[in-house]
Amino acid sequence: MKRPAPKAPPLDPPFRRPARQLAMMETQNIYCGDNLAKLREMPDDWVDLVYIDPPFNSNRVYETFWGETKEKRAFDDRHESTKAYIEFMRPRCVELARVMKKTGSFYYHCDWHASHYVKVMLDQIFSEDCFQNEIVWKRSSAHSDGRQGSQHFGRVHDVLLFYTANPRDYTWNQLYTPLGQRYVESHYRHTDESGRRFQYDNLTGPGGAANGNPRYEVLGVSGYWRYTQEKMQELIARGLVAIPPKGRTPRFKRYLDDSKGLPLQSVWDDLPPVNSQAKEARGYPTQKPLGLLDRIIKTSTDKDDIILDAFCGCGTALVAAQRLDRRWVGIDCSPTACRVMSKRLTDDCHLREGGGLPRL
Ligand SMILES: C[S@@+](CC[C@H](N)C(=O)[O-])C[C@H]1O[C@@H](n2cnc3c(N)ncnc32)[C@H](O)[C@@H]1O
Repeated sequence: MKRPAPKAPPLDPPFRRPARQLAMMETQNIYCGDNLAKLREMPDDWVDLVYIDPPFNSNRVYETFWGETKEKRAFDDRHESTKAYIEFMRPRCVELARVMKKTGSFYYHCDWHASHYVKVMLDQIFSEDCFQNEIVWKRSSAHSDGRQGSQHFGRVHDVLLFYTANPRDYTWNQLYTPLGQRYVESHYRHTDESGRRFQYDNLTGPGGAANGNPRYEVLGVSGYWRYTQEKMQELIARGLVAIPPKGRTPRFKRYLDDSKGLPLQSVWDDLPPVNSQAKEARGYPTQKPLGLLDRIIKTSTDKDDIILDAFCGCGTALVAAQRLDRRWVGIDCSPTACRVMSKRLTDDCHLREGGGLPRL
């Protein structure tokens, strides 16, 4: 028997702050400074999507030297302990949860250094019911971590913990990935007279009458079906119902060219990291690919929705949001990061400095 899921522990007072209504803030704006102070100025129930890619507790200083002047672009990811890291992140995540709309989504990008501790912290802030996915993003190829002599498997993926403000009612646009050749060959094994590939799929109503499936006759076969008789007649008229050569039961002819692909799963291994020669590379350490942010934004927001990245580095989430006609707000405490992303938004999205963008 399935045990009921354990209830999340009640939230201690410091985890959930009293609701506050503050004045609306401007979007298409970068705020340069510590995000905790800025988040505390933001109104409740305001943003549709939070994406954060904060320090990972990796005990490293990330540095790159960029361009002809070899400008140093760096940030420090050293904390006294994992406990100190979580204590740094907790009040920020509490504020981020507060500013999210009731239909909003939250993605925390991290890796093996702290993902398990972060998950526990987020369960306490959002509740376990609001945890939707642990997404695995395969960010590098096999040889980049499994160093010779290291006695563990290569650590080649990041983790994105996906939560929503409430367990069921949130923005969700289903995305699909193309079907692989092997999948097509093993599943779409039939071809019709015009050369279109298809597979036979089930039409019977699972659970029969008990599940409310209607009973009637289809192509001379009586049974319980998953569609109303009217809908079945329409499928028959469109030539989408047939009895397979070796079968007895009418089946649905599912055509390959009608397929949207496979609904996106939780392992993402089709998005390469940003290499130093890539067109989108900005020489910022730990820059994430636009394709990754595109996917998150398309799934969890609609046009004109507001996206907040409170650790926005060189502004990948902001550029992706701008290109997809979303509103956005970015925060980073590094003046270098703010300058790099300001230039990026000017160059790539033709936004003007001044206004929300810091002057270069
Ligand atoms: C991993 S990087 C983000 C990279 C980003 N996703 C991108 O694609 O460019 C983390 C960023 O968090 C910023 N940061 C660290 N602590 C912060 C704080 N307390 N407030 C605001 N930004 C902070 C760092 O300056 C750094 O740019």
